[in-house]
Order: sequence, then C-alpha cells, then structure tokens
Amino acid sequence: MNTIISGRVRKLVSATLIQPWIWPIITAPKVQLSTLSTEPVIASKKPFKVELVCGKRHSWCTCGHSKKQPFCDGTHKTKTQGLMPQCFIPEKDSKTWLCGCKYTANPPYWDSTHKQEFIQSALLSENTDS
Ligand code: FES
Repeated sequence: MNTIISGRVRKLVSATLIQPWIWPIITAPKVQLSTLSTEPVIASKKPFKVELVCGKRHSWCTCGHSKKQPFCDGTHKTKTQGLMPQCFIPEKDSKTWLCGCKYTANPPYWDSTHKQEFIQSALLSENTDS
C-alpha cells in the first residue's frame, strides 16, 4: 500500500526524523529579530529655525538620532530599522522652521505637534536638547 504525501510534508517528516534539532526552527512563530527602532525619537520639543538654499538638496532627519538636527547625519543606518531621511529641494532661499519632534503631519516643516502632551512629557535621548 502506497501513501501519497506532498513534497513539503516529506521534507518536514524527513527533517524531523533526521535532524530533530530543526523542529523548533520550523515550528517557531515569525519574530522580529532586530532590536532597532522603527519609530522616531524626539530630537527636540521645539522646531529648528534654518536657512534653506534654493536648489540645494536638504535631508531632514526623520529618526531623531542625528547630531546635526534637524538634518540627517546618517545615524539612522545604525539606530533604526526602515527610517530614512526626507530629502527636499527648496524652490527659493528662505528662513523657515523645521520640525524637531519628528511627529509633524507636514514634514519637514513644523506644525505645532510638538506642543502636544505626548511630546512635552516625553523623555529626550542623550543627544538632544530640551
Ligand atoms: S540620522 Fe535621522 S534620518 Fe538620518
């Protein structure tokens, strides 16, 4: 009497019988192995006044870890998972305010989100201001 089993079941049975150490790996739920943050940290509880140059590419830090706030210094590559700077090119020279809390709804510009309680009551990381 022959029993028909699919290739996947055959491999599973084979792996279970031949290599029992692999069973926890096969049956383990998918987990996130990285401990890097996917959420920004609050760099500042107030916006940054900056001078933007027409035609120059600017990279606004979205992760909050940069030491060159409000602009990116590349720290997101080692401190976060999936966060990237927001690049923009102004169409004219201007003095403006860029978001420091990283929770603006109008990035990279400030929108008063920093005045909300969850920002004002938050602890800041070691390389940020108050
Ligand atoms: S350092 Fe924050 S986005 Fe690059």
